[in-house]
Amino acid sequence: MDFQIESVLREKISRRELKAFREFVMRGNLHPNFQRCRYILKASVGERLVGVLGIEFWGNYISLRALFVDKEFRKRGIGGALVKKAQEIARKEGVQSIFSYTLFWNNRFYGKLGFVRVNVHSVPWDIQQCVKYHHPHYRSCCALEWKCAQTQ
Ligand SMILES: CC(C)(COP(=O)(O)OP(=O)(O)OC[C@H]1O[C@@H](n2cnc3c(N)ncnc32)[C@H](O)[C@@H]1OP(=O)(O)O)[C@@H](O)C(=O)NCCC(=O)NCCS
Repeated sequence: MDFQIESVLREKISRRELKAFREFVMRGNLHPNFQRCRYILKASVGERLVGVLGIEFWGNYISLRALFVDKEFRKRGIGGALVKKAQEIARKEGVQSIFSYTLFWNNRFYGKLGFVRVNVHSVPWDIQQCVKYHHPHYRSCCALEWKCAQTQ
């Protein structure tokens, strides 16, 4: 199955498309706030939106926001491709690390992509505060880090 991954600058996204992204991630019970994202990565199959990932920049770091793939299209590499695109952007933009907060059952998925679990207190304070506010499952989440300098 062919899918496309596209990165779009948030400021260039129409209200209508932003609304579609918000409604899409709400299906996964994720907080639909893309306000702080510089990019939104979008996965599509034909015209159909099947995956979304927001990329927030916090100084020298990136924080991933609302990674969600349509249930019907999971386990086909789309989520991985979205995260790899984020890693490509991180390298290009010269940031130090990418952080992601996630529920433990996604640790394997992130582990395959080179992320390692870190103490939540080692995450930059601004990111911690933002995630606390927007992430409905914050208290049960693990913090994961991918360092840009590592070879992958
Ligand atoms: C987490 C999530 C984004 C993963 O999306 P996905 O498109 O299924 O991701 P991938 O297909 O790249 O990888 C998922 C698994 O399928 C496997 N896979 C990838 N391509 C495959 C293929 N062609 N055939 C069989 N398995 C495959 C991967 O190895 C991976 O295995 P693992 O979970 O045991 O590590 C998706 O499950 C989701 O939207 N979950 C709900 C929301 C959520 O939890 N978001 C994360 C918030 S941080």
